[in-house]
Amino acid sequence: MSGIQVADGFRLITTEVASEQAAFARDVKAGLTAFPKYLSCRYFYDAKGSALFEAICELPEYYLTRSERAILERYAREMVAEMPEESALVEFGSGSAVKTRLLIEALLKQQGSLLFVPVDISKPALEDSSRGLLADYQDLEVLGVWAEYQEGLERVREIVSGPKLILWLGSSVGNFDREEAAQFLKQVREGMDGEDRFLMGVDLRKDRGVLEAAYDDAQGVTAEFNLNLLDRINRELGGWFELERFKHRAVYDEVEGRMEMYLVSTSDQTVRIDGLDLDVPFDTGEAIFTEPSYKYSVEEIETLVHRAGFEQVRQWLDEDRRFSLNLLKVL
Ligand code: AVI
Repeated sequence: MSGIQVADGFRLITTEVASEQAAFARDVKAGLTAFPKYLSCRYFYDAKGSALFEAICELPEYYLTRSERAILERYAREMVAEMPEESALVEFGSGSAVKTRLLIEALLKQQGSLLFVPVDISKPALEDSSRGLLADYQDLEVLGVWAEYQEGLERVREIVSGPKLILWLGSSVGNFDREEAAQFLKQVREGMDGEDRFLMGVDLRKDRGVLEAAYDDAQGVTAEFNLNLLDRINRELGGWFELERFKHRAVYDEVEGRMEMYLVSTSDQTVRIDGLDLDVPFDTGEAIFTEPSYKYSVEEIETLVHRAGFEQVRQWLDEDRRFSLNLLKVL
């Protein structure tokens, strides 16, 4: 681990994300030689993918961001009200940290100054968002952690000694299966003390039509986001995917309670990936599974948090009851 001073009030801690390239090659090979084929959604977020995700968050169909923002706009002060003086704010998967500003402002109002610790796998996102925040808030100090979630958890334990509010927004929990989600939450809980709080955004189960539109928008931004995975393989691993020979598919599995994204081959074809010394055969209609996005009922959230050893302090929903924010403390 190394920490570098990037600008006044902003330090960045870098970890082993530098080995991302080797992990990408290994995981692509495993996924494309498996049956059925899959690629991990963690690889969506290169520079182009991160920009496309920001665009998704502004789409009329992608209600998640708007609903979560509406809840934060209304209740941010209540959410931080019980935090002790000199609490730090930690955020996993902070990205552009736009919604986080509402909590930063509430905490600054309450305690005067604030240490913000964003943890993200995108170094440019960390740098850009931190610079923007520092320009706008004088009494803010930012300590960015460039790391995966697991590594980030460990670094946060070393860095933050006082009380902390940990954020995990955007329903990122939905990209873990239900078992993995409980395991990750347990790990978060293990790094928390009695006064610490965990605020988690969780998307709710709802009508298929609303969900499928959110993951297959009319402008085709989500399709481009999904297809960028193949483009990334072309750019970084010497792949020969012809993107026009694959199409985006998004379906809701009501029993599992999850949205599923796929890339479907529109013809019989074999795709060469030079960097892996691999030829990947596809049948017409064959799909690569690229992302699960689990949705929860209010009862399922309760079960999840209890399994992980948390008690739910409060839950807030938006007016349309599409999205939830859940404030948790260690049981
Ligand atoms: C980041 N994650 C919570 C988003 C989701 O809704 O599962 C990623 C996404 N995939 C398609 N659209 C957005």
